[in-house]
Amino acid sequence: MTTKENFASTGDRLGSRKVAEDLMRKLRFPVFGSPMFIVSTPELVIEQCKAGIVGSIPALNARPKELLRDWIVQIKEELAAYDLAHPDAPSAPFAINHIAHRTNERLGHDMQVVADEEVPLVIVSLAAPKEIFDAVHSYGGLVFNDVINARHGLKCAEAGVDGLIAVCAGAGGHTGNISPFALVPEIREFWDGPLGLGGAIGTGRAVRAAEVLGADFAYVGTAFIAAHEANAHEGYKQMLLESIAEDIVTSDKLTGVRASFMRRSLEMQGLGEKLASDKAAVKGFGEEGSSAKAWRDVWSAGQGVGASREHRPAAEIVAQLKREYDAVA
Ligand SMILES: Cc1cc2nc3c(=O)[nH]c(=O)nc-3n(C[C@H](O)[C@H](O)[C@H](O)COP(=O)(O)O)c2cc1C
Repeated sequence: MTTKENFASTGDRLGSRKVAEDLMRKLRFPVFGSPMFIVSTPELVIEQCKAGIVGSIPALNARPKELLRDWIVQIKEELAAYDLAHPDAPSAPFAINHIAHRTNERLGHDMQVVADEEVPLVIVSLAAPKEIFDAVHSYGGLVFNDVINARHGLKCAEAGVDGLIAVCAGAGGHTGNISPFALVPEIREFWDGPLGLGGAIGTGRAVRAAEVLGADFAYVGTAFIAAHEANAHEGYKQMLLESIAEDIVTSDKLTGVRASFMRRSLEMQGLGEKLASDKAAVKGFGEEGSSAKAWRDVWSAGQGVGASREHRPAAEIVAQLKREYDAVA
C-alpha cells in the first residue's frame, strides 16, 4: 500500500477537535513559543505565558539536571501569582520539551520530574515512547509531537499523541524541508486534533496564514531569539537582527540531522567552506563537543529572521504579533 492509500484507509480521522478547541480557548491568540536549545529560559517561558501564548523550554536546558525541578516550580509559582492578580486575563499553559532519542540519558529523570510537577503540556521531538504518553496522561497532561512529514505524523497519531506540530521548510533548529502548503493538508487527511505549524512564522499575518491553511496554532521560535529574556550571546542577537532569509543555510553536517544556521556564524568558526566541501571535518565539530557545541558556537535561526528588527522584551514581541494577527481579521 502506498503512503497515500495508507492515509486514506485510516477512515475515521484520529485526534480530538474538542482537545484542540479547549486548548485554544486558553490562549489569547493561537501561538506557541517553541522550545529552543540553550536559548529558551524560564524567564522567557513566563513572559510568553503571561502574554497569553504557550511558552516552552527544552528539559535539557536545565544543567545540571536537578535544576529542572527548580525551573518548573519557578514557572508554576510565577504564573499562579500572575493569575491571582489578573483573573480576567490568565496566563497560558507552559510546556516542557523532551528529545526522545537514545542518546538522551536524562529522559527518564526529566520525565519523572515533569510527571511529579504535572506539567500541563509536553512536547516530544523525534519518536515519542509509549511510557511518555502514559506518564503524562496519568495526571491529565497533553503530549504533542513535532513531525516533519505525514508518515511520522500518522505514526504518532496512531500511538495516541494528543497534538501534532508540523515543522516545515524554513524552520530554525532541526528543520523539515516540506512546504507547509503540502504538509498541513496531508496531515489533515487523517488528523482532527490540535495541529501546530512551524517554520519561518515571524509575523501576525503569518500566524493568520497558518490558521487559513488548516493549522490550529503557529509554532514560533526564531522571532524570540532577540528577546531580552532569551539566553543568546549579544553577537548572536545582533547577527539575527541583520540577517534575511538568504543568510540562512541548512545542513546535516554539524549535528547529523538537518538544521538551519546563519551563514556568517559558520564562517566565524571557519566552517563556511568546509560545510560545502569537507564532510568529515565538519562532522567532527558536532561529535567532539557533542551537539551542544554546535548550538552554542554556530548560531541557529530560521528563514523568518527578516521579521526580527530590534532587541526587546518578549511581551512586546507577542503584543506585536497579536496586533498584526488582529489586523488581518
Ligand atoms: C536556536 C534554536 C534551538 C532549537 N532547539 C530546539 C530543541 O531543543 N527542541 C526542539 O524540539 N526544537 C528546537 N528548535 C526548533 C523549534 O522548536 C521550532 O521547530 C522552530 O523554531 C520553528 O521555526 P522558526 O524558528 O522558524 O520559528 C530550535 C530552534 C532554534 C531556532
